[in-house]
Amino acid sequence: MATPAPTTDRTVRTAPGPAAVPVDPAVHPAWLPDAALAPLGRRQVAVVVPDGVADALADPVVRTVRAEVTAATAAHGGAAPERADDADVALVLDPGAAGRLGGPEAFEVARAAGRVTVTAGTGAGLLHGFFHLVRGGEPALAGDGDGAVERHAPATTLRMLDHWDNVAVHPAMGQVERGYAGGSIFYADGEVRADLTRVAQYARLLAAAGVNRVAINNVNVHAREARLLTDDLPEVARIAAAFRPYGIRTHLSVSWASPVVLGGLTTSDPLDEDVRAWWRAAAARVWDAIEDFGGFVVKADSEGQPGPFAYGRSHADGANMLAEAVAPHGGLVHWRAFVYNHTQDWRDRGTDRARAAYDHFVPHDGEFADNVVVQVKHGPIDFQVREPVSPTFAAMPRTRLALELQVTQEYTGQQRHAVYLGRPWSQVLGFRFWGDGSPTVADVVAGRGPGADGGTGDGGAGGGAGREGGVAAVSNVGDDRFWTGHPLAQANLYAFGRLAWDPALDPADLLDEWAGLTFPGADRRVREALHAILDESWETYEMYTAPLGVGFMVRPHHHYGPDVDGYEYTPWGTYHFADRDGIGVDRTRATGTGYTGQYPAPWRDVYEDLETCPDELLLFFHHVPYTHVLRSGSTVAQHVYDTRFAGLERVLRTVEAWQAVADLVDPDVAERVTERLAEQVRSATEWRDVLNTYFWRKSGIPDAKGREIY
Ligand code: GCU
Repeated sequence: MATPAPTTDRTVRTAPGPAAVPVDPAVHPAWLPDAALAPLGRRQVAVVVPDGVADALADPVVRTVRAEVTAATAAHGGAAPERADDADVALVLDPGAAGRLGGPEAFEVARAAGRVTVTAGTGAGLLHGFFHLVRGGEPALAGDGDGAVERHAPATTLRMLDHWDNVAVHPAMGQVERGYAGGSIFYADGEVRADLTRVAQYARLLAAAGVNRVAINNVNVHAREARLLTDDLPEVARIAAAFRPYGIRTHLSVSWASPVVLGGLTTSDPLDEDVRAWWRAAAARVWDAIEDFGGFVVKADSEGQPGPFAYGRSHADGANMLAEAVAPHGGLVHWRAFVYNHTQDWRDRGTDRARAAYDHFVPHDGEFADNVVVQVKHGPIDFQVREPVSPTFAAMPRTRLALELQVTQEYTGQQRHAVYLGRPWSQVLGFRFWGDGSPTVADVVAGRGPGADGGTGDGGAGGGAGREGGVAAVSNVGDDRFWTGHPLAQANLYAFGRLAWDPALDPADLLDEWAGLTFPGADRRVREALHAILDESWETYEMYTAPLGVGFMVRPHHHYGPDVDGYEYTPWGTYHFADRDGIGVDRTRATGTGYTGQYPAPWRDVYEDLETCPDELLLFFHHVPYTHVLRSGSTVAQHVYDTRFAGLERVLRTVEAWQAVADLVDPDVAERVTERLAEQVRSATEWRDVLNTYFWRKSGIPDAKGREIY
């Protein structure tokens, strides 16, 4: 099917008629294969736009809903009548309803008298309602209800994917930093791609999962990428135009040093008036080119990126200067809290990288402008397979905080291992810092944490308006035919969007939902096998890689495969301190780095005490002898041996589960998954043997079961 010609923001608002639904048949359809739209497409589906709402049909998202309905009903034998009275399904735009429904993206669904009616106040709400029905399939489309109204609204209005894509191929990091799915869908040959069909198709997938913002370039902004902000604006506008019909706003990562690098100034001091004027002018040009542009993402004073520290200024000074520049346009600044000393002396045990985000940012709580979102990684170190939740989320009640997750599997198997991340993300989102019944991380980033109301402690009851920072994640998508390298890694992208919309969803249900859409009509055994392979795959991965929360035992630089001491004597601050007697990092207040003190009660005490610290985080918080007895009754050394052997066994069972159904799926998918699973077995075997051998040689403690260790 033809893709609409790229248009600028100015023209898209007046272009008539529904746009085509973009599909490149050479690319795997992920969770929107044609058949996934069949239940809806078989019906009479009306898109009802009230008379007299002059702008409604100019809204590109309303036009998308009409195009989707036209295409689905044409493909599957249904029809798209004009009037709700003639329809099985009515998608009704009611501009007056947005407030009542709970925001512009909200919608409600009612089933009565054989008809399903979706009502929304905006095109975006209608589109989310449309995809709600697609996801729900036949059961969602049965109109025989009692008229009861279901309301749906996202937990947060900021649900963003961050692409770490470079325009130019970076000599060390490649085109997509930490990307495991080929090149960029946005850029090729050092330019924005001429054909953005893939981007439009991606926008459709993201909208169907619930994402509504995308940052299109790497947070490490190199010289070529810096120019996206200036010379390349017409090209960025084309990308934004590809996202816009699906209700997705475009953001750019910008270089802190832009005034120097691009503007020819001698400084980027945030308090310098010329610098401020440069940013104001730069922002004005961006919004002039892209009216609905989202804002800037900034990695400053982190891993060698420039930042305000060079001028003796704080992160708040830096962020607020940019915030001032984008505020007149309604823009946001996502300022990342991933700031730490990456030139640490490993001999110095007093410096603890886990403390860094909190130590740098918490003193500035309350100083950040209203349109600054401080974006915090889920754990205090760096997307390890197991980390405690970053205490920074609990300590900045007067700051808009975003949760940052990593969909790209940098430390979780690099899309060569089948590792479903819905469960750990769900645990992070549901973590309660202040004990049972207290607000969750999802509440905090939705602006409903304690103190979100300005300190009265009434956060849960109406605080939060305007204080949300939302959820962001590093995308796992590239120009690979399956989008994500490993076809099963699509489940992570899907689950991210769905959990960002509703953090209370059960990740196991999301897995089934994803499988049902992606493999529509497949034999029941296929969906059962996918569930068996993926549901507890994160735990499996943890069983053969770094144990008990210790983190970083990967090969330096590319981060794939085991190298237990690979980072031990380096400046990166990621140590495990194994010696002949024991292992782990003492982060207690009593004898260690004091990191436990960054948590509120009860966790500051739970983590501090060896008796109460959860085993899975034991080595994150404590340095213990290999003979330390875990709650399971096993020692640390024996636990390492047992779980490494069991982890590989679980991978082998995964392979069996796949082999039993591989013939029942598309041969292309089967071949790719089979190939990836073979690598997972090889790699898990290597992890098992390297880890077991390391612990045995260090500790001298043999495996109680006498299995082969080298
Ligand atoms: C990790 C990753 C880097 C990335 C950084 C970040 O350290 O390895 O490639 O730049 O995170 O989040 O900024």
